[in-house]
Amino acid sequence: MSLKEILFQIGLRKIKKDRWREWGDGKIRGFLRSTQEGVDSPSRQKIREILGQFPGATLLDAACGPAVELEGYRKYGTQVDYTGMDATQKMIDYARSLFPGQKFRLGDITRIDQEEGSYDVVLARHIFEHLPHYREALVECHRVARKAVIVNFFIELNSSREDIITTRGTDYYNNCYSRSLFEEFLEETLKVSSFENFRNLGPSVFSENEIYFMCK
Ligand SMILES: C[S@@+](CC[C@H](N)C(=O)[O-])C[C@H]1O[C@@H](n2cnc3c(N)ncnc32)[C@H](O)[C@@H]1O
Repeated sequence: MSLKEILFQIGLRKIKKDRWREWGDGKIRGFLRSTQEGVDSPSRQKIREILGQFPGATLLDAACGPAVELEGYRKYGTQVDYTGMDATQKMIDYARSLFPGQKFRLGDITRIDQEEGSYDVVLARHIFEHLPHYREALVECHRVARKAVIVNFFIELNSSREDIITTRGTDYYNNCYSRSLFEEFLEETLKVSSFENFRNLGPSVFSENEIYFMCK
C-alpha cells in the first residue's frame, strides 16, 4: 500500500460506521449482483436512460462498489467514458479484476481529489444514506460535474423537515433524509436551477428507490 493510500485510510477512519473494508472477497463478489439489485434493476435502467442524453460523456461513478453500473453500460451499450471511484480498496481491486484496463480510483466522495468540472456527469448511487450526511458529498459531486449530477437514493426521502440519521441496527448509516430540506439544499446552497425527480421506479429490494437528476 502506498503512503498516499495509507494516509487516505487514516482519513477514512474519521467517517463513523465505515465497515466496508472489513468485507471478505466472497461478499464483495456477490454484492449487488442479484437479479433484483443487478444491472436490470429499475433504477439502473433509469440511470442508463438519463445517460442516453449525454452520449460519449465522461462519467464519474462516485461510489462505484464492484462496478455493477459499468457492467450494465457494457451490456446495454451505454456510451460513456467511465471512471469508477470508491473509498474501499477491495471494491476497487475487484472492479479492476472484472474490467482490466478500465479507469478505477480510490477516493472519498466527501473530498474528491479532482478539479472543478473534471467530469461531464457525476453519479452518486446508493451512497448518501450511508454517509453521516449528504451535504459534503453532494457539494463535491456538484463541484466536479461539468454538466449534470445524478443522485439515486435507496431510501425514499421523508415528508417531514427532519433528516433521520440512523444505523437501524446495522453497522452502516441508513439515513432517511427530508425531501424538502434536500430540495432546498439543491436550490439555495448549490443554486441548481432545475431538477427532475423520478419516483416509484418499480419493484426492487428497496421499492422506495428514487432518482434526482440535475443539470448545471
Ligand atoms: C451500497 S454500495 C453502492 C455501490 C454502487 N454505487 C452501486 O449502486 O452499484 C456503497 C459503496 O460506497 C462505498 N463508499 C462508502 N463510503 C464512501 C465514501 N466516503 N466515498 C466513496 N465511496 C464510499 C462503499 O465502499 C461501497 O462500495
